Amino acid sequence: MQNYVRGEILAERYEVIEEIGKGGMASVFKAKDIYTKTIVAVKVISLDIVTKPVGQERFEIEKEAFAKLGSSPYVVKLFDVIQSGSEWLIILENIDGGTLKDKYQQFGAMTLSEIKYYFPKLCDALELAHKLGIIHRDIKPDNVLLTKSGQVKLSDFGISVMEGFNSELEKAIGTPKYMPPEIIAAQKPTPQSDIYSLGIMLYEFATGIAPFIHKEPKKIAIKHINDLPTYPRLINPSIPQSLENIILKMIEKEPRNRYTSVAEVKRDILKIKSTDIVKQYNYHNKASISTGQRVKKVRVGTYYSKLPFVAKNRFSILLSLFILAFIIAFVSVLVFV
Ligand SMILES: Nc1ncnc2c1ncn2[C@@H]1O[C@H](COP(=O)(O)OP(=O)(O)O)[C@@H](O)[C@H]1O
Ligand SMILES: [Mg+2]
Repeated sequence: MQNYVRGEILAERYEVIEEIGKGGMASVFKAKDIYTKTIVAVKVISLDIVTKPVGQERFEIEKEAFAKLGSSPYVVKLFDVIQSGSEWLIILENIDGGTLKDKYQQFGAMTLSEIKYYFPKLCDALELAHKLGIIHRDIKPDNVLLTKSGQVKLSDFGISVMEGFNSELEKAIGTPKYMPPEIIAAQKPTPQSDIYSLGIMLYEFATGIAPFIHKEPKKIAIKHINDLPTYPRLINPSIPQSLENIILKMIEKEPRNRYTSVAEVKRDILKIKSTDIVKQYNYHNKASISTGQRVKKVRVGTYYSKLPFVAKNRFSILLSLFILAFIIAFVSVLVFV
């Protein structure tokens, strides 16, 4: 892929200021539009990627998704798509406040009011996408851009799925840390797949740690399928029960147990009160994950990997009570005999 330096002119119109992002398929540059004197972001995709069938489809979907979602205030605006020499340029509004990942790395977990500010907006962006038959498939903090004034803009439809395009539907692609079990099992993504990834993000922002982490991506994938998430309130007790319930429902292993739409997620997030008293959500600890022709039944959550001393399931609660009763009896014998 071509590297451009400051001062170079792309498509006889965009003067490069600096590179602001680099991925597998594209580089993103901050540039000045010499006609309008405004700053834009130029996503440059090399022609050899676009001429391969998969690359071509991803490019088509990405530009169409940006165009179709143009009416959302929470999606990065598309200005133009231009072919220039051996490359395609996607000209986007420049969003200059970094990503939600940068914010998280700097400030850590979010407060409840921040969660209530950011997440409903992402739900709005996704609701429109889902209505238009678009599934983002790569929801993660790196793909949420922020303006300097704090506006939220969803971006990067590079591996999205769109009605009318069919070639990469059953493929395990995405980012392991945020990847839903059904995509790991190479099944067709649905709106519930985005709800899962958004739920992992919400978990991470509410507690300060993602539920399934490991240095090997393969092991992360296995955890998404097999492990029960540690209940968020065990990590951050200041989270209201209602928020924990929303997170757990968003990251159910089976898509049918999750929310039916992001609109419902938004409605529930907006209803959260720091003082609410509600019953704990009953996370399903059995799931059927089908991989190809085989349906794999997994029993999730026989232990909590991160908090070994906290009671983990009904059996260990009983065991803890039993041990406690034994210790009390033993101490009483010592004291009174
Ligand atoms: N419109 C934009 N304004 C400012 N920065 C952007 C914009 N689009 C992308 N970037 C930067 O470039 C990075 C990579 O862009 P992205 O579209 O996510 O492509 P990739 O497929 O490589 O992840 C982003 O994480 C962000 O830092
Ligand atoms: Mg990205």
